[in-house]
Amino acid sequence: MQKKLWPAVALAAAVCVAARADVPDFSLDFAPTSAAMNAFGSAAAHRRADTLVSKMTLDEKLQFIHSEYAMSAVPGGGAGYIQGVPRLGIPDLNMVDSATGSGSTSQASTTFPATIALAASWDRRLSSNFGRQVAIELRAQGFGMGLGGGTNLAREPRGGRLFEYLGEDPVLAGEMLAERTDGTQSEKVIATIKHYAGNEQEHNRGGGNSQIDERTLRELYLLPFEIAAKRAQPGSVMCSYNRLNGDYACENAHLLNDVLKNDWRFEGQVQSDWGATHSTANAINAGLDEEEDVGSTVYLTPTAVRQAIANGSVSTARLDDMVRRKLYVMIRVGVMDDPAKGGATINFAGANAFAQAVSEQSMVLLKNDSNQLPLSAASLSRIAVIGGHADAAVLTGGGSGNTRDPVTGAFAGCGGLTFGTSTGCSWWTNPWLKLNTPIVAAIRALAPSAQVSFAGNSDQQTPFRAYTQQEIDQAAALAARSDVAIVVVAQPAGEDFGDLQSLSLANPSNQDALVDAVAHANPRTIVVVESGNPVLMPWKDRVAAIVEAWYPGEGGGNAIANVLFGKVNPSGKLPVTFPVRDQDTPTWGQNGAFEPDPVYAEKLNMGYRWYDAKNITPMFEFGYGLSYTHFSYSGLSVKHRPDGAIDVSFTVRNDGRMAGAEVPQVYLGVPYRDEPPRRLVGWEKFGLNPGEARHVRITVTPRMQSVWDTSRNGWRYVPGGTVYVGASSRDIRLQGS
Ligand code: BGC
Repeated sequence: MQKKLWPAVALAAAVCVAARADVPDFSLDFAPTSAAMNAFGSAAAHRRADTLVSKMTLDEKLQFIHSEYAMSAVPGGGAGYIQGVPRLGIPDLNMVDSATGSGSTSQASTTFPATIALAASWDRRLSSNFGRQVAIELRAQGFGMGLGGGTNLAREPRGGRLFEYLGEDPVLAGEMLAERTDGTQSEKVIATIKHYAGNEQEHNRGGGNSQIDERTLRELYLLPFEIAAKRAQPGSVMCSYNRLNGDYACENAHLLNDVLKNDWRFEGQVQSDWGATHSTANAINAGLDEEEDVGSTVYLTPTAVRQAIANGSVSTARLDDMVRRKLYVMIRVGVMDDPAKGGATINFAGANAFAQAVSEQSMVLLKNDSNQLPLSAASLSRIAVIGGHADAAVLTGGGSGNTRDPVTGAFAGCGGLTFGTSTGCSWWTNPWLKLNTPIVAAIRALAPSAQVSFAGNSDQQTPFRAYTQQEIDQAAALAARSDVAIVVVAQPAGEDFGDLQSLSLANPSNQDALVDAVAHANPRTIVVVESGNPVLMPWKDRVAAIVEAWYPGEGGGNAIANVLFGKVNPSGKLPVTFPVRDQDTPTWGQNGAFEPDPVYAEKLNMGYRWYDAKNITPMFEFGYGLSYTHFSYSGLSVKHRPDGAIDVSFTVRNDGRMAGAEVPQVYLGVPYRDEPPRRLVGWEKFGLNPGEARHVRITVTPRMQSVWDTSRNGWRYVPGGTVYVGASSRDIRLQGS
């Protein structure tokens, strides 16, 4: 196969967009997906829920709004359990974490790539299938509700749970979440989206007060929730641990009642994060519908709520509303009439193939000097693979986003593991996923006549200790006598371990020194990064190629080898900015200290918007990702429609020599005070054969052109913006002004 990276052809077409006094049609925005529309007719579901509520006794209602089971007692190893009402045909409902696969603590499950990887695919259909595949396993295990829809934005690049989310842009995150939600609910599993809202860091995670002004909330942090809530109608929204502008999220009337239930007309239920409820009447009247407790302080117990009703602080109408919402969701999604029974056989081979496909489509080629990649097996006789436990495992995220994998049947390993603030050893803390086909074995399969050797830390007991000088020397010596050196570096993170102190790989594992030593020994050094966060790469200019593989899940070994050897042409694009230094990030401040009560002082300038507004050059920008082929962009047309939408059309051609997929992105510069230079307003992803072209049309709805106007507490349509079409947020190929 001929591989050639074509020089970038910068095309610019000036197109005039006349500012017109259109009447914006806001109903165009976030229209329900066809699956959400086709769900059981909502009017009939509401009537049926009403009838059931009218037949329930007070005791039955009270048991329906509180999950009071310690995790270990939940059937099937789930995270929560709501008891049904058999006499009325209401089944039990078991829920479980599902960020990257089922979080059952007792049943084997497929480990899919982390959702930050899914976001890097920019592939809506893939996200929908991801939601489906996870849901299929959940149902087979007996769960009718999946808690996997994390979508807090990557404001804090060091955030300990970034891997569970969908990046730094609200539209990318919201659309990918809507698709995932849709896929999950199409398999009759209620989807939860979380953590609502302002829960962007782990530091002070039990109650830090996030201080975010209304415009920033509406335009950034609430937007992914709004898009997913309106488009896919998730059954549940999980309120978060933190406080927002003073009030705990789970008793924040503005968040729950005003915005979610009134402005967005959300018909589902609000459930608390585990242990995130702090009051009875206050929380209920602010909009909380169900408490999930962790066995300690509890507020929505039958006794407490009965008392609140008796003393008049909670009305019976409100209790009925709480119960009705849950019943409605169960009816609409299908778990009322067809509850998950569990005990079904899981097609692990099929799920593994899907996990691998997601990983392949999410990998981001960050650097490829002189087309060092893809590797050609025929021309290599000695291949060095170094570090990252590439002989055995890949990294995953820790905490409730972890899964119990079918290969080992356990949350394996963990001995001696110490990262973040963890000192213990349990399924919660173990981030290493052993693979049947780790990277080394997968490379051997693709290069059977080459000698493939591994050097690094093979010590399973202390997977995160620093490399010894002897190990670094051995790795460098192996690299020096090899035709190519592939170094795997890994950055662990997980829920409840705090945030990363730095994006650097240097501490405590001295992986930067390892890369430097190997690159010094062999100029053909290729770095593969396994991370859920951006990482700093001080060695960037000294290595030949870099691939970001994220936490790639259980198909990760094969997926990485397939990308390195060109069986898969990488097509992922960064959903988060990779900065040059920690100091360049919006949250570093003077010294990188985390604020216990974070003030979102950068306002709208978050993620790429920060770098653009401050004129800081990132190492790799949002939306960036290379391919083994090259795409040219031409023929921009920008047309205003009477309803206020803009139709943006242009042509993308694969003018390289390999089939590949491209993600053309449309950004808008909105001419309004304090708006950052550009915001993402649309994108498409599609594959093209060499020489093939595609005419792309993307509609930018009025809402995408609007700003939140605090003076009138509503959206203000701002026509006359500048349209940018690019291969990343900075690689702008076409512009209409
Ligand atoms: C996490 C949630 C999770 C819940 C149940 C909490 O600690 O914040 O994301 O769904 O636990 O496991």
